[in-house]
Amino acid sequence: MSQKFNGKVVWVSGAAQGIGRGIAEYFAEEGAMVALIDIKVKEGNELSDDIKSKGGTAEFFYCDLNEETSIQRSIADTVERFGDLHILVNNGAVNFVKCLHEYSSEEWDWQMNVNLKAIFLSFKYAYMHLRKHTSSHIVNIGSVSSFVGQAKTPGYIASKGAVIMLTKSIAIDYACEGIRCNAVCPGITDTPMLKEHMGRESDIRERLRRVPGGQILKPGDIARSVGYLCSDDSAGITGVSLIVDGGYLATAEWKGGEEV
Ligand SMILES: NC(=O)c1ccc[n+]([C@@H]2O[C@H](COP(=O)([O-])OP(=O)(O)OC[C@H]3O[C@@H](n4cnc5c(N)ncnc54)[C@H](O)[C@@H]3O)[C@@H](O)[C@H]2O)c1
Repeated sequence: MSQKFNGKVVWVSGAAQGIGRGIAEYFAEEGAMVALIDIKVKEGNELSDDIKSKGGTAEFFYCDLNEETSIQRSIADTVERFGDLHILVNNGAVNFVKCLHEYSSEEWDWQMNVNLKAIFLSFKYAYMHLRKHTSSHIVNIGSVSSFVGQAKTPGYIASKGAVIMLTKSIAIDYACEGIRCNAVCPGITDTPMLKEHMGRESDIRERLRRVPGGQILKPGDIARSVGYLCSDDSAGITGVSLIVDGGYLATAEWKGGEEV
């Protein structure tokens, strides 16, 4: 086993399912101690048990990304449990499918808090730990929706666009302290959020027709890109958005499967 992240402590938000779960499992397999951050207590504890049963190190911490004190406590709990903190992965997010006039003010604030403000707050409380090391990492999960619009998801699109610029700002201001900050922007990935958002299998198949690669991505595909950005293999890379989308954003239009 390569154990690329042996001895590193990784905080992963939205770790109970989907892409976050894939990221947590990847880091655990690579030898890291992983703090599993989520509101889903049952799924989070089950994942922790599963990782431990495979010889990995992980602990679930309940944290509501909508609450500053909850984020602060999850960082403190992580450091208390594992003794340090090297990597933050801001993955947790919510998606509402509705037009802007249908949003309540509370829903807007909730979405911005979870998808965007939580990145600020996790950094705020993790900074004093991250700055102790010669190199530390933050990876924020954006989306193809960080770059192009999509119907009936205005808050999601706005928050994911902002994730990219916040990533650049952190990268610029903290590079001198050895803290690198990058984003990974997934395309269509097989998770509970995708199924909730797209609803029907036929809708997912229709959207996949716009992907030159033609395949639905797996959480592990996204996780390995996160791992790359947190490893020495990506030394010198900071402030970038790594798009992992099977070619979705490379083309304005794709009819799929045609001979060139
Ligand atoms: N699945 C896709 O196709 C896709 C595409 C592009 C980007 N993304 C991004 O990838 C990330 C993960 O998405 P996913 O598809 O795995 O989503 P998901 O809904 O399957 O999982 C998200 C996780 O975040 C957690 N979460 C939600 N609100 C929370 C809160 N207030 N506090 C703590 N945890 C909370 C959920 O409990 C869940 O475990 C998100 O940032 C999403 O925007 C996903």
